[in-house]
This record gives sequence, structure tokens and C-alpha cells, in this order.
Amino acid sequence: MNTIWSTYIQKTGTLYQSRNLRFADLFREKYMTSFGLPDTPDLRILEIGCGPGSLAQALHRWYPEASVTGLDRDTEFITFARSQSQEIRFLEGDAEALPFPDESFHVTISNTVMEHIEPGIFLSEQYLVLRPGGICLVLSARPSRIHHAAPCIAECSAFEKEIYSRTESYFRAVNETYGVCRYPRTEQEMPQLMQEAGFHDVSTEYLTINLTPDNPQYTRETAHAIINANRQNDLDGIDYMPYVAPGIVSAEEMAEMKRLIHAKYDKRIELYDAGIPQWDTDLSLTMVLRGIK
Ligand SMILES: C[S@@+](CC[C@H](N)C(=O)[O-])C[C@H]1O[C@@H](n2cnc3c(N)ncnc32)[C@H](O)[C@@H]1O
Repeated sequence: MNTIWSTYIQKTGTLYQSRNLRFADLFREKYMTSFGLPDTPDLRILEIGCGPGSLAQALHRWYPEASVTGLDRDTEFITFARSQSQEIRFLEGDAEALPFPDESFHVTISNTVMEHIEPGIFLSEQYLVLRPGGICLVLSARPSRIHHAAPCIAECSAFEKEIYSRTESYFRAVNETYGVCRYPRTEQEMPQLMQEAGFHDVSTEYLTINLTPDNPQYTRETAHAIINANRQNDLDGIDYMPYVAPGIVSAEEMAEMKRLIHAKYDKRIELYDAGIPQWDTDLSLTMVLRGIK
């Protein structure tokens, strides 16, 4: 049983809500064009480091004829992913020793996983399980993103600042302890690594995913989902505290922090519903690295 990622690094709720937005059907065409998957029946797709399963679910919607398998090391993510979809096979397993026979899949795909695993091992394991002519897709969120919070959320009281500064070093230490982002690679290095692992016809594509609640093309439901995914992220930040920084923040202080977070996001929803735009925005830049075995 391994629950390190879901306990200390990213909680199920945060990952699921934020990735459901990132892999929403609104962006389907962009992804499908960049993936360039063949339109063949019985396509076998393996998602590595699938977390709670948002991308695997999107793949199942977008390629309904394909069989999708999701693999992750974290038990809680896999248990949750299984509870959300019976049509996808979710397995606990290690990306550094994939538990499949050679040449089992037509496609391997991952999202924001390569930077956490030694890249030579990460790519060569996928090379082994891909069939000749199979496609390896590596999705990677690039650091150059645009993020602006609404003023009602960005404003921080002295109390909040003090709690965040009290716990900051503990969060940094956790990332170091568990090797989060231990292997960052540039946009130039990643295709080179893919070639070195034996893939050919390597190519890169960059997709922007723009989550701006006030954009008129987003429904009220999507706008609320964007705001509430950020709320969940901030709430999770408080829930980690007893694990990441034991004994540093009291139960009363945590409760007060959560009350303040809810008040800010309730205000943001109120402004949205009243038609008062804030133009808060989150634009992520995703690299899609593609190679053929
Ligand atoms: C940043 S999260 C991304 C999760 C998911 N791809 C998403 O976009 O929501 C990184 C994921 O990689 C998984 N992971 C890290 N190292 C792994 C390994 N060696 N084998 C399998 N999964 C691993 C973690 O458990 C976590 O779910």
C-alpha cells in the first residue's frame, strides 16, 4: 500500500477536479489533433502515472473503441479511479518496472509524470511495452504559465500570511524527500531523450488551455467548476498541514484558515453570478512530445 503522493503531494480531489477541467471535452479537438492516433479498432492505450484517472476517462470518451489501462503507484488514486469508471482497467504498479509483457500496447501516454522519474528508465520501459510502430506520448506542463487570482482571493490577511510562512519550509522539504520534480528537463532535452530511447519521428506540439471563468464561451457550470477547483486546491493545502508539518498548526488555526478560504471563494462565485467580471485566469502550456517505436 503506497499513498505517498495522495497524502503529501497532491490530493485526489485536487488532481481530479483540476484535470477534469484540463481534459474537458471543450479541448478535445486540440488534444486529438496533437495525439495523432490511428483510427483503428482495438487500440490498446496505457496511461502511466494516471493519478485519479481524469485523462484515462477522457481517452475513453474520445476513443470509445480503444481499451484504456491506467497505472499508478498510489493506492488511493487507483481505488478512486476504479470507483469512477468500470470500463477502464486501473492497476497499481511502478512506471520503472511496467508489469506488462513486451509489445502489449499501441499507445503509451502520461501527463506530468516524466519529471518525477529517471527519464531513461521512464522512456525505455514504454519502449518495451509498445508494439513496433506504437506511439509514445509524453504530456508535460511547462513552467511558463499565466496565473492571476481574482483580488478577493489574492488578498491575504496577516493571519494567513503567518500560517503560510510557518509551514513553507516543511512543504519544500516534503518535495525534496519524495523526489517531486527530481528530473526536470527542458523543451530541448525532452525530444533528445526520446530519440536516445530509440523512438523515431519524434515531434513536439504545444497546447494552451485557458481557464478564465469570465470568458463568455464557458458555461456557468464550467465557470463554477474552475473557481471551485481552485478552492479545493487551497483547502487541500490546509489538509496537508498535519502530515507535512505535524504539530505546527493547531486544529483551530486550520479551521479558521478553511473558513477564510471558503469566504473568499464564496465571494468569487457571488461576483460571477452577479455578472461582475474579475478576469482571473489560469493558462497552462502543455508540451505534447510524440515518438514512434
Ligand atoms: C503530478 S501527478 C500526475 C497525475 C496524473 N497524470 C494527472 O495528470 O492528474 C504524478 C503521478 O505520477 C505517479 N507516479 C510517480 N512516480 C511513479 C512511479 N514510479 N510509478 C507509477 N506512478 C508514479 C504519482 O503517484 C502521481 O499520481
